[in-house]
Amino acid sequence: MTEIFDAIKKSAIDIKNLIETGDTSKSSNENSTGDTQLKLDIASDEIIEAIFKNVSCIKAIVSEEQEKIVPLNENGKYLIAYDPLDGSSLVDVNLSVGSIFGIYEKEFTANNLVAAAYVVYGPRVELVIATEDVKMYRLINNEFKFMQELKLNEKGKLNAPGSTQNCWSSFHKQLIDDIFEDGYRLRYSGGMVPDLHQILLKGGGLFSYPGTTDRPKGKLRQLFEVFPFAYIYEKANGQAVDGFKRALEVETTHIHDTTPCFFGSNEEINRVLKVYKENAK
Ligand code: AHG
Ligand code: MN
Ligand code: MN
Repeated sequence: MTEIFDAIKKSAIDIKNLIETGDTSKSSNENSTGDTQLKLDIASDEIIEAIFKNVSCIKAIVSEEQEKIVPLNENGKYLIAYDPLDGSSLVDVNLSVGSIFGIYEKEFTANNLVAAAYVVYGPRVELVIATEDVKMYRLINNEFKFMQELKLNEKGKLNAPGSTQNCWSSFHKQLIDDIFEDGYRLRYSGGMVPDLHQILLKGGGLFSYPGTTDRPKGKLRQLFEVFPFAYIYEKANGQAVDGFKRALEVETTHIHDTTPCFFGSNEEINRVLKVYKENAK
């Protein structure tokens, strides 16, 4: 898998340069989830695809920005699902954004995920790779240097509640209010990569993106966003759930499926599971 991580590092350097100089305007296309693609989304996707094409162990790829699976090498062992530029609408206001990668074997389902990685493009560029453990690297003089291993505490202090509040269920609203009542602080940028990176580095907390009245299955995409981060949070001693079960037990029927999701340290996730169980219809 080293070849894959080297390819991710290479693409991260190119995407960092693209973000610094690229055009932040919209294209005339929509992706499969109905978002208008920015020119930056398309260009980041092209960078990653061109680099992955030269990696012989990759059998096929699928991108948040493309409708279908793209076959690469018939004899390859790995399948990669990726979100080339998560939070791309934040580039024009100069907030942090990211790229997310899920590495699968056999087929694109949660139980076949064997590694995950993400890159944060912020004041610094950092790369987090989870195999059996979770390691963070930082781009220094054009090379990724190992910085530290990441582990969550049992309980944190941050609360990152996603989606439109007037579409939350009443029990979800109560849960979020209760968490704030207990002294948690609001930290939500609108980019899941920096928001989840912050919780990981500060030791814990809760990031939620629930099912809502307008989007009962949430917004975040299983293969490109939820499963890779679920893998990373579990390997960092935290949890990721859909409200009722592990996010990594959610079934995928279509590559662009979404799911409600909650990521955090053990205490906060156990609290989510309890509230959702009590309120399940
Ligand atoms: P993308 O830019 O790939 O479409 O994803 C954006 C996602 C995610 O990064 C973030 O957590 C979420 O959208 C924010 O959505 P809301 O503004 O609805 O909270
Ligand atoms: Mn995204
Ligand atoms: Mn994206």
